Amino acid sequence: MKYRVAVVGATGNVGREILNTLAERNFPISEIQAVASSLSGGQRVSFGEDIVLDVIPITEFDFTGFDFVLFSAGNLVSAEFAPIAAEMGCIVIDNSSHFRQELEIPLIVPEVNPEALASYRNCNIIANPNCVALPLTMALKPLHDAAGLRRVVVSTYQSVSGAGKAAMDELFNQTRAIYMNQPAIKEELPKQIAFNVIPQVDIFLPDGTTFEETKVVLETQKILGVEVAMAITCVRVPVFIGHSMAVAVELENPLSVGEARALWREFPGLSIIDYRQEDGYVTPIEVVGEDPVFLSRIRSDKSVENGLLFWICSDNLRKGAALNAVQIAEKLISDYLEPNPNHMT
Ligand SMILES: NC(=O)c1ccc[n+]([C@@H]2O[C@H](COP(=O)([O-])OP(=O)(O)OC[C@H]3O[C@@H](n4cnc5c(N)ncnc54)[C@H](OP(=O)(O)O)[C@@H]3O)[C@@H](O)[C@H]2O)c1
Repeated sequence: MKYRVAVVGATGNVGREILNTLAERNFPISEIQAVASSLSGGQRVSFGEDIVLDVIPITEFDFTGFDFVLFSAGNLVSAEFAPIAAEMGCIVIDNSSHFRQELEIPLIVPEVNPEALASYRNCNIIANPNCVALPLTMALKPLHDAAGLRRVVVSTYQSVSGAGKAAMDELFNQTRAIYMNQPAIKEELPKQIAFNVIPQVDIFLPDGTTFEETKVVLETQKILGVEVAMAITCVRVPVFIGHSMAVAVELENPLSVGEARALWREFPGLSIIDYRQEDGYVTPIEVVGEDPVFLSRIRSDKSVENGLLFWICSDNLRKGAALNAVQIAEKLISDYLEPNPNHMT
């Protein structure tokens, strides 16, 4: 069976990557439409190597008869249009944070909590997690199942693409301006990002955390189904694509570095690059366009009981957004829309 698919936000970082991912994975498509704002009327975007799509302004788009609508156009667009599409019978997979904490809406990482997809019919909307929470839960899930999570401490190094295409332009333009002895103009990010790092991702909340930090904690807890204690500092760095994080985990029960490696090797979607030597680890520039979540610098934390330290890198536009959204659609097809008798219990 083939499906009618619409991508809302198709001119953006995530939307373009969704189109690439659908094409690369030969998603079973009978019709594909690219939707964005009225500013993009008349623009065209690529789908695969041979197909070019005219971008349709969302106010002129008719959701009737579409099987899947993948939204990546920000919270306001999702809040207004996702319920309309869902009520018309489309299955919505939403990249914004708007629905992620709604109890009746599943928040899915297919490798971690596929069972939660069963409730997608509550609203016909499935939320795609934050691009830090998503790789983090993939690394934490096998540790939790084996030894129980007690506390997780995370410091992130998040690329500018996580703030949209305008933030990527800002890093490029500031870098060029500084080399040309011109002022580095700041519009998208709260401070100069070129040759700098910014310990603020998203807005501040009254308790001094940022919204990004709160999202990562709440989403990690929802996906794993456990109220693990977490402390996190989210930092924007002058990297175009690829989010990294340094993670410290305290477990309830002992788990050696060797046992953790063995668990991670078995876990789908993870790749371990950890040779404990000069360049024997992964950096963000090396994961651009790659599907797996990469783990490096794995070692024990001798400052606490049952402690592990490690480093995560992943492409925030790929597994952190587009790939996961497409994998959710694939999982729906295989387990709910075209049930495979071998998968049924
Ligand atoms: N980047 C990441 O790592 C990441 C990861 C996970 C989730 N997300 C989420 O995904 C969403 C998109 O992020 P992004 O990085 O792709 O942003 P982006 O590069 O700035 O792209 C935004 C997209 O939304 C469209 N859009 C904006 N206003 C619209 C409107 N009123 N009606 C219809 N379309 C509209 C834009 O269309 P025009 O070009 O016509 O303006 C563009 O296609 C955000 O909610 C973000 O939080 C991003």
